[in-house]
Amino acid sequence: MTISKFPLLLALALVDVSNATLTAQQVVAKARSDLVPRLSTGAFITFDEPPRWSTFRAPEPAVTVNVNSESDVAATVKFCNAFDIPFLAQNGGNGWATTFTLKNNGVLINLARLNQVTVSPDKTQATIGGGALVNGIITAAKAAGVLVETGNCNCVGALGAYLGGGYGNLMGLYGFGVDNIISMRVVTADGKIRTVSASTSSDPDLFWAMRGAGPNFGIVTSAVVKSWPAMSTERSAWTGALIFSPEKLEQVIQAIQALELKHDMNVFLYFISSGPPSNEPVVLTTPFLYMGNATSGKAAFASLYAIGPIQDTTAVLPYTEWNSGGDAFRSRGPRKPSFGVGFQAMIPEVWRKIWNMYTEFQKKLGAEASVVLLEAYPSTKARPNSVPASFPHREVKFNAVAIPWYNDSSYDAAALAFGNAARELWRGNEDLSVVYGESLPRLWSIKRRVDPQDKFNQWFNIKQ
Ligand SMILES: Cc1cc2nc3c(=O)[nH]c(=O)nc-3n(C[C@H](O)[C@H](O)[C@H](O)COP(=O)(O)OP(=O)(O)OC[C@H]3O[C@@H](n4cnc5c(N)ncnc54)[C@H](O)[C@@H]3O)c2cc1C
Ligand SMILES: *[C@@H]1O[C@H](CO)[C@@H](O)[C@H](O)[C@H]1NC(C)=O
Ligand SMILES: *[C@@H]1O[C@H](CO)[C@@H](O)[C@H](O)[C@H]1NC(C)=O
Repeated sequence: MTISKFPLLLALALVDVSNATLTAQQVVAKARSDLVPRLSTGAFITFDEPPRWSTFRAPEPAVTVNVNSESDVAATVKFCNAFDIPFLAQNGGNGWATTFTLKNNGVLINLARLNQVTVSPDKTQATIGGGALVNGIITAAKAAGVLVETGNCNCVGALGAYLGGGYGNLMGLYGFGVDNIISMRVVTADGKIRTVSASTSSDPDLFWAMRGAGPNFGIVTSAVVKSWPAMSTERSAWTGALIFSPEKLEQVIQAIQALELKHDMNVFLYFISSGPPSNEPVVLTTPFLYMGNATSGKAAFASLYAIGPIQDTTAVLPYTEWNSGGDAFRSRGPRKPSFGVGFQAMIPEVWRKIWNMYTEFQKKLGAEASVVLLEAYPSTKARPNSVPASFPHREVKFNAVAIPWYNDSSYDAAALAFGNAARELWRGNEDLSVVYGESLPRLWSIKRRVDPQDKFNQWFNIKQ
């Protein structure tokens, strides 16, 4: 089923108009007089918002509330409701939507201090804070002798990723992030704190909705997720970079299309700068084989090796270093409007056109760090024992994103043109299925009940 995007855009426009009540100064004054006294020790307000991965169309709040407990989150939501102040939670700050509407009459709820991670004595469950980052989860998991399914970028909010599906290196083994959630503590639009799980005594509908569309329904202060006991030999993988010269692009695309990704494999492809001083763009792939070694890795990715990489940095890496290669993506600050899309086939001619557009943009002074990224994971259906979730895109084989990366806002027009054109090329004739696919009608009805006033309206808003 394909649903038009237009109702969503209309809903956003309506929300924008109805919100502007207090001025920025009034919001700050009210926060000082009515909110700060209700916060726990350790919570505080600031006027510099925490940095985001991209400054492009970033939220610009009047005040940031740095919460230190679950009840701080509830108190802040209640405060915002009392004075009709728009609000938004921020976790890793890596959300790449351009739908943020928080202006300087709004409140940003910074979850960063809710970053505790604990693992149960039997090692089968981890409790992760609403503000814990991926690298925080991995550090705690390693210390406890377990694996936890996380995103592949250390700076991403662990729950930020989970709530929208949750892709990661262990997907083929353990499913999407949403398949690993057992229960959540959630502050809903009414400012109440609820425990949400599959249990019929909680709110199983809300549990379904949050696992795929979470930012539309509440703020997760902590979640209990599955963890997987693993010896140190089971916490290693063979991975690294294979770099190809640009004329090999078509062969690389064909090899990725033809690769049969087993449950312990994935592969990424980048168009990326080889670094200063030349900043020459290259084609880079990162094969990944869980518990692999040089022999088994080269065998699993023989078709890539056959093309003749000019550089090979693959090695056996411990769990704590699987994401290190992506640390270059962590940098905060510049403008990175991102254009992502999922599709089913790798078409060499399409990728050559995108390469040409990419190199054209990337050679601009100050745009050298721009990237195109493709991620291919093994097909991951819901685990047989996992609870159904609203996240709809399990069958998508390839996810790509174009990331123009620059400081100079005069490049915005060229960046948007490049990103949109790349996305259109990838999409080809495939249906423009919206973010939530077939889950949308049911999400609408749960939204009407749980967040009737659409307080959570800035992340691919699903208001009807
Ligand atoms: C460099 C980079 C790498 C990425 N890698 C991966 C990856 O490997 N796997 C993957 O699945 N995704 C990945 N993503 C996508 C990423 O998961 C989403 O952009 C996600 O929304 C980011 O979450 P965040 O907490 O960092 O961002 P934020 O901007 O802080 O949050 C994004 C949205 O989620 C909401 N939100 C965040 N935390 C909570 C919470 N606890 N409760 C309720 N709402 C919340 C926020 O309010 C906001 O609307 C990546 C993105 C980037 C930019
Ligand atoms: C590499 O891994 C394979 C498959 O697990 C194993 O059979 C082989 O012995 C390993 N080789 C080395 C050198 O460790
Ligand atoms: C953007 O500007 C900052 C601060 O001047 C600088 O550190 C960074 O390298 C610049 N980024 C790009 C992509 O030019």
